[in-house]
Amino acid sequence: MPYYYMPKKSTYILAIESSCDDTAAAVLHNDNVLSNVVAGQDVHKEYGGVVPELASRAHQQHIVPVVHEALRKAEINKNQLSAVAFTSGPGLMGSLLVGTSFAKSLAMGLDVPLIDVNHMQAHILAHFINEEGFGKPTFPFLALTISGGHTQIVKVSDYFEMEILGQTLDDAVGEAFDKSAKILGFPYPGGPLIDKYAALGNPKAFKFTKPKVNGLDFSFSGLKTAILYFYQAEIRKDPDFVTKNRDDICASIQYTIIQILMDKLKTAVKETGIKQVAIGGGVSANSGIRKALKDAEQKLGWQTFVPKLEYTTDNAAMVGIVGYLKYCQPDFDQNGYTENNTMAKARLSL
Ligand code: KG4
Ligand code: ZN
Repeated sequence: MPYYYMPKKSTYILAIESSCDDTAAAVLHNDNVLSNVVAGQDVHKEYGGVVPELASRAHQQHIVPVVHEALRKAEINKNQLSAVAFTSGPGLMGSLLVGTSFAKSLAMGLDVPLIDVNHMQAHILAHFINEEGFGKPTFPFLALTISGGHTQIVKVSDYFEMEILGQTLDDAVGEAFDKSAKILGFPYPGGPLIDKYAALGNPKAFKFTKPKVNGLDFSFSGLKTAILYFYQAEIRKDPDFVTKNRDDICASIQYTIIQILMDKLKTAVKETGIKQVAIGGGVSANSGIRKALKDAEQKLGWQTFVPKLEYTTDNAAMVGIVGYLKYCQPDFDQNGYTENNTMAKARLSL
């Protein structure tokens, strides 16, 4: 544990996440999660993807009840809060603005520090939530962040010292799942459905070519096109092809995606010599990637860290832990943060 990590006594942090299509609020007592409330948005289902304008409107509807619920579940009065943490980016601008404006106003009203949080750092630092049965990585470790918006391999040298070693050049891995699912006619988001059906199928039934990308970067757009051509060719021969082969198709797609991720992770471990690997982001809920990491522990001597399911998809507990870690730093300037007039940023690097 770094020398500066000196937990402050009894810190209550309210955290808000609104970067994409989930409105979330959580209350943390130090590094313990007291409540973690998420309101999803079904409104996007019929469009097969997130519609930014509709997401912003739904955040407006959800934000007050979700924050109330988080405080109620935590049995905390808002006057007990030490700080308000919120996701400032990256994400959809309209969505971010709802959480940002709400957090700013609340912090100002309560006269407590306002702490801005990078969503991608939050997916990584979620591993530092104190949770029974879940270990915390030590520095340095490698983080694989896999979500609907990002695919990155990050070297984490300290809480706020992170270096991107590789990332996707086009689609994120979550998009690869969702777009493949859409081709097969599944509702959005299709990732969890592919996971569910993959468990019942043969991963070697169909072969999809893996992309050739240099270094530690990824590319998923070619795979999506390959799946589309495969689907079109098969459906021409037999219109019921998907119904008859659903599980095998899903298992084969999932197998290919996991191979792509694991190949790059193996290279990253070899190049850095770091054998601690932590995953985060919505796709880390995938049972195939979880199993592949467990296998790597046995076969390759890695130590792997997989977050509790509720901290994988977008949530505010992960935002709260970043808020707490920032609050604990010696250079944390309470006044500076109280005055904080930080703005939402759709694009934000680690
Ligand atoms: O982190 P997240 O909730 O939102 C973003 O920041 O993007 O990730 C959502 C993504 C979606 O693409 C969804 O299909 C995918 O995570 N996902 C999964 C699974 N659960 C969620 N993909 C594959 N298998 C799953 N079990
Ligand atoms: Zn996310």
